[in-house]
Amino acid sequence: MKKRFAIIGFPLGHSLSPLIHNTAFKHLGLSAQYLKLEIDPHDFESTIEQLKNVNWQGFNVTIPFKEKIFPLLSKTDQDASQIGAVNTIHCTSNGWIGYNTDWLGFLKPLEQRNVFPETCLILGAGGAARAVVFGLLKLPSVQKLVIANRTIEKAEKIKNDFNGQLIQTISLSQLDSLNSAFDLIVNTTSVGMKGRKAQTIVDLEKVTHQNSTVYDLVYNPLRTVLLRQAETLSLQTIEGLEMLVFQAEAAFKIWTRKTFDDHLLNLILEKLKNELNK
Ligand code: ATR
Repeated sequence: MKKRFAIIGFPLGHSLSPLIHNTAFKHLGLSAQYLKLEIDPHDFESTIEQLKNVNWQGFNVTIPFKEKIFPLLSKTDQDASQIGAVNTIHCTSNGWIGYNTDWLGFLKPLEQRNVFPETCLILGAGGAARAVVFGLLKLPSVQKLVIANRTIEKAEKIKNDFNGQLIQTISLSQLDSLNSAFDLIVNTTSVGMKGRKAQTIVDLEKVTHQNSTVYDLVYNPLRTVLLRQAETLSLQTIEGLEMLVFQAEAAFKIWTRKTFDDHLLNLILEKLKNELNK
């Protein structure tokens, strides 16, 4: 029988996860399918309990359920608990186990480029920022991490939750007067997403030096205004699509113990780009 996987969230219209995983299953000759399960937030708990009676191998979890899922799991991996969000579930004979692979997906493109930043500026303090900060704190190179957010209280919460001696928090309005250049700038906010105003919340010239790397978690559009500005300053850039693919690969590995070879990675990236350009 075909193994079954799905992404659970609401809404899911935009989700690219089925394309990634189904391409991987096919390429690796695995008899499995990956579906989209849009769950009405009002019926979340009861729907999850129903799903437990059916034979599933794994799930990805997205907005708005990444935190809500915790009490419904048999066990949670320590990293996911610390981040406070589960994006991957492995359904085992010992129950459903929750993981977070976002931080692994975030780090991979940095490792591949040998980017080992000492100073980092994180824009935003939502769920994505928590995985990013968690990941960056794993890097021995990191010495200073500034979280800039519109709502400073949320940045402060991350600092407190992560025992953040290396973390400083500021409000977005203080960004321009910061007067320091960072090795890495990461946008974790939704600013720059398709359908919203094409804008950025930072003047890159004021916070970068010539060897800075600019990483935007937004992947639609692929080249955000922020990344295009970085390009005009001749800075190294990383697209959000890479993190998307690598968090998926880390989930895939938990479920199947298999990784994406270079051929598969390129195939997936090509398909994703075609989809985004539609
Ligand atoms: P996610 O889980 O994807 O990180 P989120 O938790 O809703 O999503 O967080 C979105 C982030 O984008 C927040 O940091 C939010 O700032 P606030 O905490 O002040 O709400 C930020 N954000 C969204 N729209 C923004 C805008 N127009 N200007 C500045 N920041 C914005």
